[in-house]
Amino acid sequence: MTDRYAVVGNPVAHSRSPSIHAQFAQQTGQDISYERLLAPLDGFVAVVEAFRATGGRGLNVTLPFKLQAFEFAQQRSPRAQAAGAVNTLRFGADAVFGDNTDGVGLVRDIQERLGFRLEGKRVLLAGAGGAARGALLPLLQSGVASISIVNRTVTRAVDLARLGGDPRVSACGFDELANAGPDDAPFDLIVNATSTGLEDAAPPIPSAAYRGLGLAYDMVYGAAPTPFMRRAAELGCPRVSDGLGMLVEQAAESFFVWRGVRPQTGAVLTRLRAEIGTA
Ligand code: ATR
Repeated sequence: MTDRYAVVGNPVAHSRSPSIHAQFAQQTGQDISYERLLAPLDGFVAVVEAFRATGGRGLNVTLPFKLQAFEFAQQRSPRAQAAGAVNTLRFGADAVFGDNTDGVGLVRDIQERLGFRLEGKRVLLAGAGGAARGALLPLLQSGVASISIVNRTVTRAVDLARLGGDPRVSACGFDELANAGPDDAPFDLIVNATSTGLEDAAPPIPSAAYRGLGLAYDMVYGAAPTPFMRRAAELGCPRVSDGLGMLVEQAAESFFVWRGVRPQTGAVLTRLRAEIGTA
């Protein structure tokens, strides 16, 4: 019998997940269906329970419901616990399991697709909201040397840095990044986890922080390079990437959580990139 999965969100019409999971299912020979569920803003739990009651086996959860999904889960993975949010629900015989595959998706895309080894690297993580929080534990587990969290509201960066209690993590404001000396190359990687791209702007990272950078990675994606990618390239960064690969990798990890099978992601990303419009 075909097992049912879906993505639940509001809005959800734009979601690429049904197409990605249909390709994974075809590639791995798994007998699943995958649909979109639009939940009213005050109706997340009712929609999820109705889906489960009619044979649903698992869900991807997107904005604005990742915190409610965290509350709804009866068991949570350590990475969901660390992220404080759930993007993957699996309905077992007796419990609802909640996971978060966003951060591992980021790390896989950086290491496996882009071939950028994270071990020993100094990372600047811009932003201190849910996207940044989800990235923190998987980045630390990949063996980075340090993570500096920079945020407009510095107290949020400080709180996030304290959360995991890892001595490799520190916090600062954007202004402090301008203090790097002219010969300093303070970071190997910048990850943009702010929402400034939605306002068609790059985050206010001083140019000194880009000096000597190996990779600039934006968690968002679009048809054209994002403002952050453009700024990094203008400042001489040799490698820039948007977050489309992260989207495909987090989907692959969710597929693995549900089915125990790990799909190949390369061809799916190539096809998605062509659909979206930039190579
Ligand atoms: P998400 O869950 O996507 O991370 P969020 O929790 O709203 O969304 O966080 C958005 C992030 O983008 C925050 O780090 C926010 O900074 P503040 O904590 O100071 O609000 C950051 N951000 C949004 N607009 C920004 C701007 N114009 N300049 C700098 N940072 C901005």
